[in-house]
Amino acid sequence: MRNPDTADAADAAQESAYVLEAREVTKHFTVRGALGRTSVVRAVEQATVRLKPGQILALVGESGSGKTTLARMLARFHEPTEGEIVLRGEPVSGSRRARRAYHSEVQLIFQDPFGSLNPLHRVRYNLERALRLHQPQLDRAGRERRITELLERVSLTPTDEFAAKFPHELSGGQRQRVVIARALAVEPKVLLGDEPISMLDVSIRLEMLNLLQRLRTEDGLALLYITHDIASARYLCDEIAVMYAGQMVESGPKEEVIAAPQHPYTKLLIESSPDPERGVDDREALFAGADELGEPPSLIDPPTGCRFHPRCPFAMPECREQAPPRTELGNGHWAMCWLHTKGRAGELAGTTHAEATAARRRTLEGAS
Ligand SMILES: Nc1ncnc2c1ncn2[C@@H]1O[C@H](COP(=O)(O)OP(=O)(O)OP(=O)(O)O)[C@@H](O)[C@H]1O
Ligand code: SF4
Ligand SMILES: [Mg+2]
Repeated sequence: MRNPDTADAADAAQESAYVLEAREVTKHFTVRGALGRTSVVRAVEQATVRLKPGQILALVGESGSGKTTLARMLARFHEPTEGEIVLRGEPVSGSRRARRAYHSEVQLIFQDPFGSLNPLHRVRYNLERALRLHQPQLDRAGRERRITELLERVSLTPTDEFAAKFPHELSGGQRQRVVIARALAVEPKVLLGDEPISMLDVSIRLEMLNLLQRLRTEDGLALLYITHDIASARYLCDEIAVMYAGQMVESGPKEEVIAAPQHPYTKLLIESSPDPERGVDDREALFAGADELGEPPSLIDPPTGCRFHPRCPFAMPECREQAPPRTELGNGHWAMCWLHTKGRAGELAGTTHAEATAARRRTLEGAS
């Protein structure tokens, strides 16, 4: 049995080990539609994300599942409707000063490197601006030294040549390297990468993933890696969190989630992604998306109960009525699915999503 004193101490130590957390955050957007009617988009509901130093957590889910909204809450570009963002154990405050201090620890990298650099200025200026803002103690020579170091870090050499270029003179991959260098200029503890490689040429995506991997190893950065694409998550991350229609449905260590997904949606994502046996040298296969999965449901009027029930081949009557509880599976792995509380989780391993869908279709046809 757990000794309550030592257990409390262990829990506290575990909590303080997280550099950044989103605790049960919700984001609702109010939108005005036709005839001036307002509706609420339930973009994210009660999502929890925890990042440790040196850890890469992949956040996967199809388009519209709420990944960017969650990242923007973590980057403090959106205030949560409910829940809180916690940096090194402290809930963050809303003052301007606190916000700047926050952004010197947590940096967001967007999908489109061109959109995030000032096109009118050279690379040197783009980096220098971040240094002036977040490292005011540096004099001119110190900033120049730092710019050289940063460009070396992201392998843009000769550094003088790259510092003198305008963003339009760089390739997509080089631009994204500059964006990463600028994020590193503030010496952050956390990088939030919102599909940081998805707009890059397939031939250089692997190099970018390797750069991110190196930053984690060498600098102990925590990285939230957002992607549609479970294959690149599989390559890069330690842990995987899966979002469906604004909710987290499963999270856990990569090997466990990939080898034995414990939610039917995760299973569908994994079975739709390329075969890892083909290896990481097969670049086309590694980055082939799981885009053929169909449209996610409306977040204005989401399905009742489990939001995945209209697409789930394992759905039971209760799935339509009540949201499933979270089941802890050990080793930090959890899933939200009724199969676990109804003693049916074994079915997930026993069949593929396609077989389960075909069997369900036969049952429904037989019943009609
Ligand atoms: N500012 C906003 N106002 C209203 N609705 C929004 C806003 N931002 C996002 N949404 C809605 O919230 C939902 C989640 O969007 P989000 O961009 O977070 O998804 P995503 O998982 O990042 O998708 P993608 O993979 O396409 O980038 C979508 O229905 C989107 O239309
Ligand atoms: S709760 Fe029900 S509908 Fe939802 S994923 Fe599990 S079995 Fe499918
Ligand atoms: Mg997005």
